[in-house]
Amino acid sequence: MRVENACHTHPWTINTMQSCLAGRYFNLAAFNEQQIIGFYIGEKAGPDFTLMDICVAPDFQGQGIAKQLLAAFIEYGEKHHADNLFLEVRETNTRAIALYERAGFSEMSVRKNYYPSDDPSKKGHEDAILMGMTLLFG
Ligand SMILES: CC(C)(COP(=O)(O)OP(=O)(O)OC[C@H]1O[C@@H](n2cnc3c(N)ncnc32)[C@H](O)[C@@H]1OP(=O)(O)O)[C@@H](O)C(=O)NCCC(=O)NCCS
Repeated sequence: MRVENACHTHPWTINTMQSCLAGRYFNLAAFNEQQIIGFYIGEKAGPDFTLMDICVAPDFQGQGIAKQLLAAFIEYGEKHHADNLFLEVRETNTRAIALYERAGFSEMSVRKNYYPSDDPSKKGHEDAILMGMTLLFG
């Protein structure tokens, strides 16, 4: 929650976080010594795996940690025979979009007014971009 709260304008609640740590969810954390400095949370829904959350504590951003976490998410999908990987991202989150595109995700559709937004120009909501990647097995 410390990393989640430091990273997001609209962080998950602790209840949401706790409900996403078992069952059909999977995750990986990055550590600096004993301290969590980043993580991802994924969800399995049949052949489709979704990246629900990925973040890196501000002091550790720009060092390739998200890139490694995202590579681990993709590798988990490959290892567990996912057909497709999906994620949603705020249209204004250009940094995350660049990260996802470089990893091989591409835009599939736009979900209008999907996220709450504090940006005065956004009238309370902003669009989500749905991105996806198909995994191919030989
Ligand atoms: C998005 C986020 C996860 C990136 O984490 P990070 O550890 O700083 O990212 P990395 O250092 O692994 O960088 C990976 C890629 O991100 C992009 N990136 C990183 N820093 C960037 C910057 N300052 N400007 C633009 N793009 C940048 C680049 O595409 C970079 O690839 P490169 O190594 O080829 O340059 C992090 O900024 C974050 O936690 N943001 C808040 C939470 C969030 O928005 N999560 C995603 C939506 S749920």
